[in-house]
Amino acid sequence: MLDDLLIRPYRDTDARATRAIFERAVRVTAAAHYTAEQRTAWVPDDPLAVVLDDWAARRAAVTTWVAVIDDSVVGFTDLDVETGYLDMLFVDPDAGRRGVGSALIRQVLDQARSVELREVTVQASRTAQPVFERHGFVVVREQRVERRGVLIENAVMRMVLDA
Ligand SMILES: CC(C)(COP(=O)(O)OP(=O)(O)OC[C@H]1O[C@@H](n2cnc3c(N)ncnc32)[C@H](O)[C@@H]1OP(=O)(O)O)[C@@H](O)C(=O)NCCC(=O)NCCS
Repeated sequence: MLDDLLIRPYRDTDARATRAIFERAVRVTAAAHYTAEQRTAWVPDDPLAVVLDDWAARRAAVTTWVAVIDDSVVGFTDLDVETGYLDMLFVDPDAGRRGVGSALIRQVLDQARSVELREVTVQASRTAQPVFERHGFVVVREQRVERRGVLIENAVMRMVLDA
């Protein structure tokens, strides 16, 4: 399956697909590590029409890549090339555990090196933590962040890049 995987830059027309992946990844995949209450606080059940413009603006504000298989977007990630902060890594549950997330992380690290960032940081979910560890990220601290009054555990992780 990964023979057909393509990583390409985000386009404005990817807004709807990436939002759907974000919602499905949290609701389905993150259920392995987070309660229903935590997942609803993370991604409330707002209508797409309400969230899409804001979502599209946020995607376009940072460097974002999508993973494509057979012309379908199956995952995405991003990097703020000014700060080295990776905000989002989400893969559709139907495409999970086949290396799509890893391919997206490799893309971020390649980009970070090419713009000579010293490090990449992320607030990794429990689901994502092992994936980032495989790529050399280390936990800086465990934390709980509040979303809509609910505490959600994650870990600040950092990957130091060679000079
Ligand atoms: C984290 C995520 C992006 C990984 O994508 P992926 O394409 O499955 O990643 P890879 O195939 O490269 O790595 C798979 C690893 O992810 C973790 N993982 C993925 N799906 C999982 C699941 N359903 N249950 C538990 N762990 C899971 C495991 O560590 C897995 O390794 P394993 O299969 O050897 O156990 C994806 O699982 C996801 O979108 N999760 C929900 C949203 C989330 O937590 N995003 C991160 C926010 S920082």
